[in-house]
Amino acid sequence: MRFTFPFVWKIALLLLALLLPELSPRLQGDEEIVPVHIKPAIPTDTGLLREPPLDLTKFTRQDFDALSSSVGVDKIHKKWTDAVTPLPPHARSGALGLTEEEVKTYMRQVRDLFDQGLAVPVSDVGLISTQEDIIRRPMLNHIAAFANDTVRVYLLVQKTSTDKNWGYFSIVQDLTVDPPLDYFAEIKGAKVKFEGTGCYKCHSSGPLAIHPARADLVNDEALTAAINHHIANQPRSRFFFPPGDRQPDYGKPLEMKTCTKCHDEDGDRAPLYRVHSHPIRVLVDFGHMPPKHRLTAEEITELKAWLEQKP
Ligand code: HEC
Ligand code: HEC
Repeated sequence: MRFTFPFVWKIALLLLALLLPELSPRLQGDEEIVPVHIKPAIPTDTGLLREPPLDLTKFTRQDFDALSSSVGVDKIHKKWTDAVTPLPPHARSGALGLTEEEVKTYMRQVRDLFDQGLAVPVSDVGLISTQEDIIRRPMLNHIAAFANDTVRVYLLVQKTSTDKNWGYFSIVQDLTVDPPLDYFAEIKGAKVKFEGTGCYKCHSSGPLAIHPARADLVNDEALTAAINHHIANQPRSRFFFPPGDRQPDYGKPLEMKTCTKCHDEDGDRAPLYRVHSHPIRVLVDFGHMPPKHRLTAEEITELKAWLEQKP
């Protein structure tokens, strides 16, 4: 059979008509989902904070650049097209459940990629770690995301403004099990030490979105938005508590409706417990949670009372 020219054109037009609506909203959609503007962190005087908000006005953008760059300028401020650096495919095909050694190998691999300047890190002063009663000085972070079909891997290179050395931390999400399993560790040279309860205090749902302490204390807003988008769209996962650092009984989860819409057993994010009081106090007071509205005075009182209850 021989197609006539007009027939071929008809097919082409039909295909185009089918594809156009498919293509255009996708482009617009991406722009919508990835807002480039960083929501400023402004204390809202809820009374949830244990300490007055830390005054960072003396900490300038220049201070941030100088301290942040001390990790090595060749490693940061990368030009990027893909916010998530691709990793080669997993060596053991068809793996169902990674071995602890495989997880540790990924952690060392991303540390090495960062050290060789082959990662795409976003650099900031993080809000949650800087504010409140724990650190109370600027906490400098470099955060990079990596992935292949088997894992999502995150690297955090961190120090406070007064520390000399940078610490290396990593999260590996094993996607070969359902739900995925999140491993947390500190990397010290060749040594990778899994940690549980210490990391869970803030990481209730695997990786945390990046929230800078001030809008200008971050080097790349578009990259921050893209990594946050990747983190927000992660699958719900479980936390790996290593032997010797088992999960204690955390009591009852937070049951306030304004939070459990999302933070619940079957929600987008895992339930929150009193042990998560630090990130809860900071994210709510600085206007990040709930994402779209402010709590009423009654809700603040209820949240405060719950946080202060003894288990
Ligand atoms: C005091 C709260 C807190 C604790 C405890 C904590 N983290 Fe984090 N972590 C954060 C915050 C906040 C971020 C996002 C930083 C930002 O906004 O710049 C983060 C980011 C990370 C990242 C980068 C990926 C991501 O989640 O954005 C890794 C990797 C990481 N942490 C590992 C660890 C490990 C491993 C431990 C335990 C040894 C740990 N963290 C303990 C608060 C904490
Ligand atoms: C509309 C859904 C939604 C509601 C409602 C909501 N959250 Fe969240 N929450 C999220 C998402 C999505 C994240 C991760 C992205 C981010 O941190 O911006 C998050 C992150 C958090 C985190 C960091 C741990 C994690 O899961 O990443 C805490 C703590 C938190 N929220 C507390 C609260 C509290 C307390 C309330 C109620 C006062 C609340 N949230 C209401 C969606 C929600």
